[in-house]
Amino acid sequence: MYHQIGHFYSFFETSESDLDQISQLIVNTITSESKAVLDIGSGPGDIALQLARRGFTITCVEPSPSMRSVFLSRLNDERSMDPKITLLPGNIETLDLKQHYPIVLVRSVLFLLKDLGQQIRALRSIQRHIGVNGKAIANFVIKRDTKFKEKKLIGRRTLGESEYLHYSQSRYEGNVKIVTWIFEMWHQGKCIESHKEDFRVLENSFEEIKCILDQTGLRMIDSYENFSGKNFSTDRSESLIAVLENKAL
Ligand SMILES: C[S@@+](CC[C@H](N)C(=O)[O-])C[C@H]1O[C@@H](n2cnc3c(N)ncnc32)[C@H](O)[C@@H]1O
Repeated sequence: MYHQIGHFYSFFETSESDLDQISQLIVNTITSESKAVLDIGSGPGDIALQLARRGFTITCVEPSPSMRSVFLSRLNDERSMDPKITLLPGNIETLDLKQHYPIVLVRSVLFLLKDLGQQIRALRSIQRHIGVNGKAIANFVIKRDTKFKEKKLIGRRTLGESEYLHYSQSRYEGNVKIVTWIFEMWHQGKCIESHKEDFRVLENSFEEIKCILDQTGLRMIDSYENFSGKNFSTDRSESLIAVLENKAL
């Protein structure tokens, strides 16, 4: 899905304050001396670059060539990051790096998978990469209502005389949530480029998440509604940030 929109994605996604909050959660969660992170589905590297600037070494796994190419061009602009970031192609379901990490980060990936079977394989893969006393941080979208959500502006940037806009809207087809992202580029009062991308969002109930974790050797030790650390509410929260560890410990 990221072929067309890879360059737009990194242009809008993840504000500085979000990046600070994610890094802070990692700093608060890591217990090991070694500041190594495995970032699966790293996208164009927003989080990895931020962590590298904070002294972490990061192994990034990203299946989309378009996302990797945006990431590589950013690394080209910041050569001092070369020793700190490893970027590999790979799919979370089949990944087996034969290495363990104090932190495995999987942000905004699990809800892009097709079904519970894929989520279970992804969680097993997370589990086999967590080191002794290591943790994983992964997020889920929680199933709430099935209402249509109108087109809403979620990002805006002005570059010289042009303006870039990012809209989102969502609908349900049966039980499946379809989100549409619309990117527009405006110049002199006219929209001169526009891309639309639909993607499915796999929503889970909290019970379902506990059940799939049970099948994958992982246990949830903390749960937040967002990366700012707000506690997760089973009645209200629309997303879950789960801090996980190996059950065997
Ligand atoms: C919404 S982006 C999130 C990027 C980054 N983790 C972040 O939080 O900014 C989702 C990323 O997951 C990647 N992805 C999708 N399916 C994947 C899979 N099966 N295995 C690994 N990565 C996947 C996509 O290519 C995309 O780069």
